[in-house]
Amino acid sequence: MLQNIIQKIENKQQLLPEELRFILDLKEREDMNSIFQKAYEIKEKHIGRKSYFRGIIEFSNICAKDCYYCGIRKSNSNVDRYMMDEAEIMEGAIWAHENNYGSIVLQSGEREDEKFVSFIESILQQVKEKTNGELGITLSLGEQTKKTYQRWYDAGAHRYLLRIESTNEEIYKSLHPQDHDFGRRYQCLKDLRETGYQVGTGVMIGLPGQTTEDLVNDIIFFKENDIDMIGMGPYIEHKDTPMAGCFENFDAIKGDQYLLGLKMIAATRIYLEDVNIAATTALQALNPFGREMGIKAGANIIMPNITNTQYRESYQLYDNKPCIDEDSSLCKDCLSNRIGGVEETIGFNEWGDSPHFKKRQQQEN
Ligand code: 5AD
Ligand code: FES
Repeated sequence: MLQNIIQKIENKQQLLPEELRFILDLKEREDMNSIFQKAYEIKEKHIGRKSYFRGIIEFSNICAKDCYYCGIRKSNSNVDRYMMDEAEIMEGAIWAHENNYGSIVLQSGEREDEKFVSFIESILQQVKEKTNGELGITLSLGEQTKKTYQRWYDAGAHRYLLRIESTNEEIYKSLHPQDHDFGRRYQCLKDLRETGYQVGTGVMIGLPGQTTEDLVNDIIFFKENDIDMIGMGPYIEHKDTPMAGCFENFDAIKGDQYLLGLKMIAATRIYLEDVNIAATTALQALNPFGREMGIKAGANIIMPNITNTQYRESYQLYDNKPCIDEDSSLCKDCLSNRIGGVEETIGFNEWGDSPHFKKRQQQEN
């Protein structure tokens, strides 16, 4: 079966769901490596031996939601809540620009109040103004009304990340309180697309009760919804959440979670080909070389943390998040070396748009 699949990939034939599943179920490291290599070749064909940096600023951990897996959920009283002010966020954005990062990601807990919405609007306008429109801006601020998405788009944001978390609605329900609605989240993805954003989504990999069939359905969902960017990573326990303890011994399955994360990146690259795929920090939380290996398995985006070090301790979505102590310049050097170590160059000063998005734009014009 493996040889057959590799042959199909080489012949540019689309894989069947059961073949994707076969990839996700691979057990032998050697077999996985041959799939990772094929995924890397596809990435190389569409993007080159190149990865893009997005400096991520986690500017607030104040959150109105209560997802059962997430360390900054509103019911976790062990978290020191913070909100960076405008000057602090701008400092991060300008640092990114001066250090030749093509773009930044602004991420925080979820809020929909007008004060928050207009605060973001003002930040976006300032970033555009102070960087001569050169710095690309991605938002990762959760579910919002279409009107809000439009306001932020008009103010200068052009990409948005909103993970669907799991396309299996039963699993989605089991991860969230009743008032968190799968239908609304899906509608948000449609609203983002209609507004004109490059749309990113993704899932958590290795959730309790999730099968490889579910993960195959996730990949098919990305394709059917014409998604431009994928950000996904292994699920990792956070001790202060209701889901801690779902697995009898999480430490014992860390290695499997990590490998499943890599196989998911490779299978997604093979099936979708020309999208941007992030090698997420969660991979590195499970393995010191996780992000480099993500690149080797077909990812092309890295998101170095450029949040002020003083706040990092308080923005832990899962346990043992790496890079809590390093400042941004250390992170940059460390990541540059790491990427150089896998013979990739970094697309400094480039937005690094998803080739998939560019193609769609050309077709529409
Ligand atoms: N493990 C892995 N990923 C997580 N996220 C939140 N909590 C966890 C966790 N415990 C991911 C979610 C969210 C993104 C910002 O972080 O997928 O969309
Ligand atoms: Fe932050 Fe290496 S990526 S220290």
